[in-house]
Amino acid sequence: MDRKDIDNLLDKIEQFRAEKLQDVEELRVKLLGKKGEITRLFEEFRSVAPEMKREFGKVLNELKTKAAEKIESLRESFEDILDTDTKTDFTKPGDAFELGTRHPISLVREEILDIFGRFGFAVAEGPEIEDDWHVFSALNFPPEHPARDMQDTFFINPAGDDPILLRTHTSSVQVRTMERQKPPIRVVCPGRVFRNEAISARAHCIFHQVEGLYIDEGVSFADLKQAILLFVQEMFGPQTQIRMRPSYFPFTEPSTEVDISCNICGGKGCNICKGTGWLEIMGAGMVDPNVLEASGIDSTKYTGFAFGMGIERIAMLKWMVNDLRHYFENDARFLKEFRSVL
Ligand code: PHE
Repeated sequence: MDRKDIDNLLDKIEQFRAEKLQDVEELRVKLLGKKGEITRLFEEFRSVAPEMKREFGKVLNELKTKAAEKIESLRESFEDILDTDTKTDFTKPGDAFELGTRHPISLVREEILDIFGRFGFAVAEGPEIEDDWHVFSALNFPPEHPARDMQDTFFINPAGDDPILLRTHTSSVQVRTMERQKPPIRVVCPGRVFRNEAISARAHCIFHQVEGLYIDEGVSFADLKQAILLFVQEMFGPQTQIRMRPSYFPFTEPSTEVDISCNICGGKGCNICKGTGWLEIMGAGMVDPNVLEASGIDSTKYTGFAFGMGIERIAMLKWMVNDLRHYFENDARFLKEFRSVL
């Protein structure tokens, strides 16, 4: 037995490259098979002189272990390839995309516009950055009216005859519609509005409104009442009742604040309606003749009604959300609650 033969064999094993699994099996037979080179060396080992047995025994065992390890690792590398091949299941369905949800404010906005759409109201929109004329003056606000105060309105440019500001209501869009269009006019005006208020559970400096305007010959307060009753019954259910309380707005005369019967306790009184059985939902009234005239509409020929409501308020009542801030923070846990009403 020659030590060189063993070292050569070790080299050969180390350098061996297999291209396919079959090459690995051939190597195994060549080395460790019945007539394999290593098997043959072990046979020769029997006739090695006793004083050399210890040395040769050790190297032969190392050789055999190396060969077995090499064969095993080559085999594993091929099995990995085979494995990934068989693991690719092309019939498996793809990963599902998580669907987003509509924001609750959008849902209520669409519902309000849809109901009025069925009554024949078109949608009108206008700018969020407005001038004093469209937000205040054309709506019969006297120059000293407190709503013009810095406390309530965000001014962009407070100077001059016609200051620039963020609209405090979408009544400005109604003015723009009256300036543009001859009666009959039937529009609903959705949009964001801005008021200088401290943020709390019940108030925010940004909120959303839908205001409505109907101008034609012979429009009466009875028409206003009926339109609002039909709207709230569509929105909150056919059992819903309305109550009108006298109020004041510079742009309507007479003016009213509209309440609906509490949809939570059915009018019996609970903590949502603070025991009264009624919930305030909007302001409304007959368009003041001064407002019609300011936009070039003949107030001796035409009359009209207007109303305005906060979308957040309607959404709060519909879904019993007790904190307005939820609508602005976009916490996914809150928004996902509305998946079922998509
Ligand atoms: N513009 C009023 C507001 O912002 C709402 C309103 C609209 C009231 C039309 C009466 C008529 O609160």
